[in-house]
Amino acid sequence: MKTVTCTAPVNIAVIKYWGKRDTQLILPTNDSLSVTLSQDILHSKTTISAAKEYSGDRLWLNGKEEDITKNKRMHNCFRETRAIRKAVEDKAAAAGQPIELLSTYPVHVCSENNFPTAAGLASSASGLAALVFTLAKLFDLPSDMSELSRIARQGSGSACRSLFGGFVAWEMGKEADGSDSKAVQVAPETHWPELEALVCVVSDAKKGTSSTEGMQNTIQTSPLMAERLKVVPGRMEAMKKAILAKDFESFGELTMRDSNQFHAVCLDTFPPIFYLNDTSRGIMRLIHEYNRSSPDGKIKAAYTYDAGPNAVIYAPKQNMREIIQLIAHYFPGTDSDYYFKDTYGVLGGAALGEN
Ligand code: ADP
Ligand code: DP6
Ligand code: CO
Repeated sequence: MKTVTCTAPVNIAVIKYWGKRDTQLILPTNDSLSVTLSQDILHSKTTISAAKEYSGDRLWLNGKEEDITKNKRMHNCFRETRAIRKAVEDKAAAAGQPIELLSTYPVHVCSENNFPTAAGLASSASGLAALVFTLAKLFDLPSDMSELSRIARQGSGSACRSLFGGFVAWEMGKEADGSDSKAVQVAPETHWPELEALVCVVSDAKKGTSSTEGMQNTIQTSPLMAERLKVVPGRMEAMKKAILAKDFESFGELTMRDSNQFHAVCLDTFPPIFYLNDTSRGIMRLIHEYNRSSPDGKIKAAYTYDAGPNAVIYAPKQNMREIIQLIAHYFPGTDSDYYFKDTYGVLGGAALGEN
């Protein structure tokens, strides 16, 4: 028996991934780009043990056992990491070296998110990245992050970006087998230390429509999606330029526009998908008012929303205190449906950790 524990961070996209061209391999319809948040604040912590005596692969998520018999995404990650381990075992056996046949053992996975699960704060990204990274440690696989990222992609698309710190692009690729659909680091976490992220938990309830189901419905029914696919390539280039130049004006405007367009295609899906609520929209209005009050006319903060009502606000460090005060003032945490907590996520943590 062998047991390993690791943690992985959340990443919040500023150019959103929404739509698959291949649902089995998880190949996207567009490039995307995200910022990996410090795992000191938000993370998935996963412990995996492998033992001959176990009767099958099992998962406990946040203390409760989940039925994973039909969970293809997890089985993709088990199958791919076991295959690499098996090759190592075969090689060792051929060379007459003793090695434990871990690839043949069932595994027990126990994972905890220290933030709301399935609420639009990228739990599938940190969760599946933690799963793959922990399996790799358990099986003593060579730590080729690109390879691990490719495997994590087959667990949840956004997870491929959580294997890297800093600013990370997921290039959609062209190949049918997904060999060129991979995450690459655009800039490390040390690149832009003045940039910070504020996570505002509007609701910790599980979303009504999962990202997987929602994006598939969009692909099948939204005519606006075709327009989005024309817009994203230009935005990707502009976003990379803005990040490399540490140009918050461009970064902020592109981030807000892309979040808004993503939620517009959700509304254009039939039947429509509503991820934002009144509080989310209230925060958007507040940020626009705040930017309008800027003495030099420059953007001071930018919001973005994943598939859920919770806001992530990117801003230069010097503005954060003011933003937190504004949000606490206009959205006081009295109503249990409208509260804020876990409000400070600083960038710059190490990408992944082994405990
Ligand atoms: P989110 O916006 O939080 O990413 P998704 O709809 O994309 O929501 O995915 C949520 C699903 O991801 C959960 O229902 C669960 O199946 C999976 N997931 C979340 N956290 C973990 C974890 N720590 N380990 C394994 N799977 C996880
Ligand atoms: C809105 O990666 O959760 O957060 O690949 O089906 O697991 P699956 O979906 P998921 O989708 C994330 C959508 C998003 C935008 C993003 O993270 O880029
Ligand atoms: Co997700």
